[in-house]
Amino acid sequence: AKTHNHEFVVEATPVKRLCKTHNTITVNGQYPGPTLEINNGDSLVIKVTNKARYNVTIHWHGVRQVRTGWADGPEFITQCPIRPGGSYTYRFTVEGQEGTLWWHAHSSWLRATVYGALIIRPREGETYPFPKPNRETPILLGEWWDRNPIDVVRQAQRTGAAPNVSDAYTINGQPGDLYNCSTKGTTIVPIRYGETNLIRVINAALNQPLFFKIANHKLTVVGADASYLKPFTTNVLMLGPGQTTDVLITANQPISRYYIAASAYQSAQNAAFDNTTTTAILQYYNSTKTKPIMPSLPSFNDTNTVTKFSKRFKSLKKVEVSNVIDENLLFTIGLGLQGCPKNFRERRCQGPNGSRLTASMNNVSFTLPNNLSILQAHYFGIPGVFTTDFPAKPPVNFNYTGNVSRPLWQPVPGTKVYKLKFGSRVQIVLQDTSIVTGENHPTHLHGYDFYIVAQGFGNFDPKKDSAKFNLVDPPKRNTVAVPVNGWSVIRFVADNPGAWIMHCHLDVHINWGLATVLLVENGVGKLQSIEPPPADLPRC
Ligand code: C2O
Repeated sequence: AKTHNHEFVVEATPVKRLCKTHNTITVNGQYPGPTLEINNGDSLVIKVTNKARYNVTIHWHGVRQVRTGWADGPEFITQCPIRPGGSYTYRFTVEGQEGTLWWHAHSSWLRATVYGALIIRPREGETYPFPKPNRETPILLGEWWDRNPIDVVRQAQRTGAAPNVSDAYTINGQPGDLYNCSTKGTTIVPIRYGETNLIRVINAALNQPLFFKIANHKLTVVGADASYLKPFTTNVLMLGPGQTTDVLITANQPISRYYIAASAYQSAQNAAFDNTTTTAILQYYNSTKTKPIMPSLPSFNDTNTVTKFSKRFKSLKKVEVSNVIDENLLFTIGLGLQGCPKNFRERRCQGPNGSRLTASMNNVSFTLPNNLSILQAHYFGIPGVFTTDFPAKPPVNFNYTGNVSRPLWQPVPGTKVYKLKFGSRVQIVLQDTSIVTGENHPTHLHGYDFYIVAQGFGNFDPKKDSAKFNLVDPPKRNTVAVPVNGWSVIRFVADNPGAWIMHCHLDVHINWGLATVLLVENGVGKLQSIEPPPADLPRC
């Protein structure tokens, strides 16, 4: 196995999109940032220097970080932020994961432009579990604002309303030629007739689940979130923010140009969203520069297509999912409304009915500490940073997806974590609520991959629904798109000590509190304990 050394300089760089130039926060002047390419078993040493005027941290999304939680990255969870002028070196090994992951900033909304692909190929001398493709192309789906994204979220927090929606979606940083002033930069994916291409699709958008399609070409799904799947063929993908999907395509169509396109899957009712379409061009060698053929994307609210698609995910091989559960948890996930505080800076809150939008898990609206990270407080036994009273179940039982009574609309703020003993076998039912609106929430857990053993609509029914559990070949993921007005059941073994945030990967929902932290205690001996913190861990 190799060690790969990289330097990431986070800095403001002029970037021109949609006819205007903005000073954009980038890594090494690149937007999207550099692609990291490694083999399973390799280590990464990445020195991040902050030359921007914002605090920053980098998260290696989906990397398990076994015993190296100090390198995970979420601000105030595993580290204090890297201040302007500071630096921090992330050191970790990627072991037992193959496929596509990615990295992104994990402070405020910096990840709008600070992100890149992490490609993990099989170990040296090993091969893919499918025929070797002729080419490989990472496709990063993103969102672009015609403003500084930090200002967009600050405005939302000042007013209590939903943030302004994005002005464009992007493919590899480019909106594509359906947008103004964007023809020149449109991403071109070249291909020769007869070739296959392994396309690694990453949804790096801040707040939008996306449909993805390539005109006239079938997509053979072979992996997701750096785990292999039983291959299946589809016309369309849906990825929640945070999710990755690897697909093979074969250039078996008439020599021409075909659009690669993505547009919104929007499951929340009556919410504003960006209803535009981003495109790149799959361009056959020797094709003439004619207008590319456009795929027909599903309509924005096509939950049926999403359900059918997600039902097809199965692990490539049989897996061992324990039938014994030590921790049986039920976490509600959803939005909420809060009264407008008297000292609010604006004249009145601009959320629904003069309220302020919020979000919670089990009625707790997660607030980040601001003086120390949870992992440091835990490791050094420093009190007053968090409490360990996050509930195993919602404080009240109610019809989560029905009409919800007013008092349930007001979550309690807190920095509450849930403690897990090393090695405990965990099941979490993630239950969407219809408070304010039901919505498909891409729920991401740091430090772990988990098995999605079942999903459904309505309220989870332990008796009836456990009969549907797939304990044979469920997909292994780090981000589950919990169905709108529905539920997902995930299972994993808590064998990685540390402080691991679990949150909705729609960034505005993190701002509103849709998160909690699973604090996994050390086990017995060195190999079951987190390593000591590195000397250059940023100070608060
Ligand atoms: Cu990709 Cu906590 O995030």
